[in-house]
Amino acid sequence: MAEAEAQQDPGQQVEAANKAFEREFERFAPFRATGTTNLPLKQAEELARDLSEVRSRHTGKKSAIATCKKLIGRVPPTERAAFGQLVQQTEAKIAQALDEVEQVLSSYIETRRVENESIDVTMPGRRLRAGHLHPITLMRQRIEDIFVSLGYAVEDDREVETDFYNFDALNIAEGHPARDPQDTFYTTDGFALRSQTSTVQIHAMQRRGAPVRMIAPGRVFRRDTPDPTHNPMFFQVEGLCVDRGITMAHLKGTLAEFVHRLFGPETKTRFRPSYFPFTEPSAEVDYSCFKCGGKGCRICKWCGWIELGGSGMVHPNVLRAAGVDSEEFTGFAFGLGIDRTCARIYELDDIRLLFENDVRFLEQFR
Ligand code: DAH
Repeated sequence: MAEAEAQQDPGQQVEAANKAFEREFERFAPFRATGTTNLPLKQAEELARDLSEVRSRHTGKKSAIATCKKLIGRVPPTERAAFGQLVQQTEAKIAQALDEVEQVLSSYIETRRVENESIDVTMPGRRLRAGHLHPITLMRQRIEDIFVSLGYAVEDDREVETDFYNFDALNIAEGHPARDPQDTFYTTDGFALRSQTSTVQIHAMQRRGAPVRMIAPGRVFRRDTPDPTHNPMFFQVEGLCVDRGITMAHLKGTLAEFVHRLFGPETKTRFRPSYFPFTEPSAEVDYSCFKCGGKGCRICKWCGWIELGGSGMVHPNVLRAAGVDSEEFTGFAFGLGIDRTCARIYELDDIRLLFENDVRFLEQFR
């Protein structure tokens, strides 16, 4: 082919180069005049790529017009100037044609891209779904606030315990039913998931000594079959107050104040004799129903009273086990169910609702 070209008349070669370009340029030519009107962006981008290929084919180092340039030196001197001019004009014409279309295409592409990326400020926004606290957490915080304002520290402690903290130190003797594997989750030998937050009484007294005033909210675990009023994991808050001269009157006053703040000043308390290994004497605490005020309704199961939890004067054995002088110090303690109270307040028929993580249920506590 090169030979064939070489044999051709140089003027014809320039003509041929021009023709070849025009053939390929034909499809781009309309854009010089009319622009790109409604061409989809993808197609315009493809066209721009094709155009740059055409440019390198027809103006690059190996193009026909470049070959023609090399011929300038070889034509007879009399024809050289005219030939040189022809080559240059042809080259300039090709370059101009390419430039014009390239400009149309690239500004069109730019406009379409900006259009595609621009934001429609009139579109409705997407609402962020903010989370919120779990009802048990809300309840726990309300309880904490009350006791903190009464001068109590809030303790957080371990959920896996040794027999010493879960039983021995709490005066729960060998053979007590609470130690039965039917009632307690044992892990490795000698360790169990705590079955009550009372374990924190011992840790707190060991850490802080006496006097001490603290509450300890947290999870506890028992081998209960789930039903509307039971769950194998639930929440308690433990309370402990140890000082010189603490009596049952302090216990009663403190819990009375607590229910006044939680349910209103008209709320009454009632203490029923009971038994817990770690207190002596022990009492079960009830408060008058926040719904009916004691007349009897569905919430209090028509009895007018609702159980708050257990309480009592800390057993001297417990003080001693935690290294506190039981001659010098006395104290009271109590344990309340957080989720139980929560279920009552919100009138839930099934305590398990609190643990199922069903957003449709939880969303109501925003
Ligand atoms: N730990 C007891 C329970 O789980 C509740 C309790 C009763 C805690 C009396 C106390 C207490 O601190 O003095 O049933």
